Formats: sequence, structure tokens, C-alpha cells
Amino acid sequence: MKAQEVFLPILTDLVRSIQAATLYPETHQRVQEPLVRLHRSVKNEAKRLGGSLSLGFLGDRIVVDQFPFHASTLGVGRLAGRMAARGIEKVAIGEAVTLPEMKRFVYFVAGVGETDGSRPWKQISFGRIRGDDPEELPALGAGELLPAPHLLAGAKDVLKDVLHSIAVKGPLGNVEEGRDIVAAVMKGLREEEFLIDRMIRLQDRDDYTVAHSLNVCVMVVAQAAGLGLSEATVRDIGLAALLHDIGKELVSAEILNKPGKLDSGEFAKISLHPVLGATHLRKMSLGSDLPVIVCYEHHIRHDRSGYPTPRFPDGPHPASLMTQIADVYDALRTYRPYRASLDRETALGILREGRGTEFEPVFLDRFLRMVC
Ligand SMILES: [Fe+2]
Ligand SMILES: [Fe+2]
Repeated sequence: MKAQEVFLPILTDLVRSIQAATLYPETHQRVQEPLVRLHRSVKNEAKRLGGSLSLGFLGDRIVVDQFPFHASTLGVGRLAGRMAARGIEKVAIGEAVTLPEMKRFVYFVAGVGETDGSRPWKQISFGRIRGDDPEELPALGAGELLPAPHLLAGAKDVLKDVLHSIAVKGPLGNVEEGRDIVAAVMKGLREEEFLIDRMIRLQDRDDYTVAHSLNVCVMVVAQAAGLGLSEATVRDIGLAALLHDIGKELVSAEILNKPGKLDSGEFAKISLHPVLGATHLRKMSLGSDLPVIVCYEHHIRHDRSGYPTPRFPDGPHPASLMTQIADVYDALRTYRPYRASLDRETALGILREGRGTEFEPVFLDRFLRMVC
């Protein structure tokens, strides 16, 4: 078997374990499965290579032993970015590595729990590659480290796959992981008391819809929780918010990422995303009608303008109104190919101007109190 074929499963399990570690506790099956496999294969390879397996993280490349993997390989770019965020350019793992130490490393890289990595390591060493000698491996433990990435940064990686799988596979799409993300959002909001506007800001230019969906989900969960609704209802609303733009997965990327203003034909196509998304979600068993409703209604304004044209006399569902506010706020705060991101005060000013017309006033007031 070629070296790349041996090392790719190791990288894949490393990526999966780290992603899972950002969302689940240590004992969860989604962490355990890839981690146990990773531990076994790392030990085997370290033994085969004379006692230690080395990985290098350089820009968008990962080198295992001496074999390079590029960012285009599944998850490799994201793993390299995550290592860079922890100040890790090189890792060496000894063949006697234990499962607990492997797990500790995975959680450390995931940014969950231990943050500075300075407690002694037995079989794992990592750090920066020093300038003049690329082969030199720093002493055991970590050198200078950047702040831990937020818990939700990992949720973004998972969400990317979830949105894609739901859009492509339809009824078989992985909704369960979407629910897990909402649970992580709820947990994060409960435990961290972070200010809404400081929370994640995952303003990733390539994955706009992914980062945006997660931001909107966080802001809608916070609004819904503030209303004193039951956990189960907040979770349903959160899932609906997370999936509100799923229809964009069905619109061409060329239009979505067009730098510059859309012409009327392109705008007509993108305006179909609520209907496309709702039609798609209706085929799935989601355990609640809310995702279909919110998906369909999130561009209908409080005064019933917007799109699609409402067919019934009742106003949009409260979950849609909350999503609509968070949706506009996040869109204004985020860089787009056709305009810079707006600062917080300017974005809030635009929301205030739409009070009672574009936005339902009671929900808007609550949202402003929450963000200000
Ligand atoms: Fe939308
Ligand atoms: Fe949106």
C-alpha cells in the first residue's frame, strides 16, 4: 500500500476526533470511535517508522512522515488551520503513546478544556519549527500558543458537512448532527455568558452560508431562550434557524459568490432560496414543522413585504421573525464580496430604522437589548 493511503486514514481520524471533541464530551461515541482508531493506527505507524510518527503543518499543507497532503484533501486545510491557531507546526508521537494522552492532545487542539498545553507530555511533542533547521523539533510541550479557538469554531466544520449532506441527500441528510450543533450552541450560551456580538464572528469568506447559519442560530437561540420557552422548543427553533438558508445550497455558487451587484435575473434566482429550501426540507422527517416554516418565511418582513409573497393573512411565525432579525444583523456585520462589513453601531442603526416596518417591534426591542 502506498504511504499516502496509509496516512490518509490517520489524518481523517485526527480531523474527525478534533471536530467531535469541539462538540461532544470525551465519552461520546462520536469522539471515541475515531479516537480509538487514530490511537491504534498512530501506534502501528510509529512502530513501523522506528518509534515515532511525525507530522508537519506548513501553510495549507500537512506532511506525514515525509509525504505531503494538500489542503484540497478532505479536511486537511481545516486541520492545518487549527494547528496554526494553536501555534503547532510540528508534532511527533511516540509508539508508546497511550489513549488518554492521545485524547488529551485531541482536546487540546480542539481548544476544549486545557488551554496552554504546558503540563508535561510523555509521548507527544509539538511546537514550532525553528527558522534555520526545519528538522529541529522543539522540547516537549508547547511553545507560545494563541488563544483557544471558541467551542463553536469546530461546529462550523461539522455544519459545513451537515448542510451539504442535507441539500444533496435529501431525506437521508444528517439532521442529527444539526441537532447536536444546536445543543452545543445552547450549552455555549448557558455556560459562557459571552456577549452575542463577540461570540464567534466566523466571517469566513468562502463559507459564508455556513458561518452565517451558525451565527444566526446562536442569535436566535439566545432570543428564544430569553422568552422563557422550554428547552425542547428552543432546540426546535434553533434547528430551524440553523437550516434557514439551506436553499442556498441549491443555488449556483457563481451567483452566491458574485463580486458585485446581482442583475435582475440573478436576483430572481437567489430569491427562490426560501421556496427551494422549504420544499426540500418538507421531504425530510425533522420532528417539527418549524424548519420548513422558517426557511419559507425568513425573508418576509413584518409588514409582509419581501419574498416570497405571503399567501395567508397571518403574519410570519414568531420563529421566522426572530430569525429574520438575526439574519439581517449578521448579513450587515459580515464582509460580502460587494461591500465591507458594517460596524456594530451602523448595523444596529439600520435595524432601528426598520422597527415596525421591516422588523416586528417587540422582538426587535428584545434583540437590541440583548446585543447592546
Ligand atoms: Fe436567506
Ligand atoms: Fe440568511
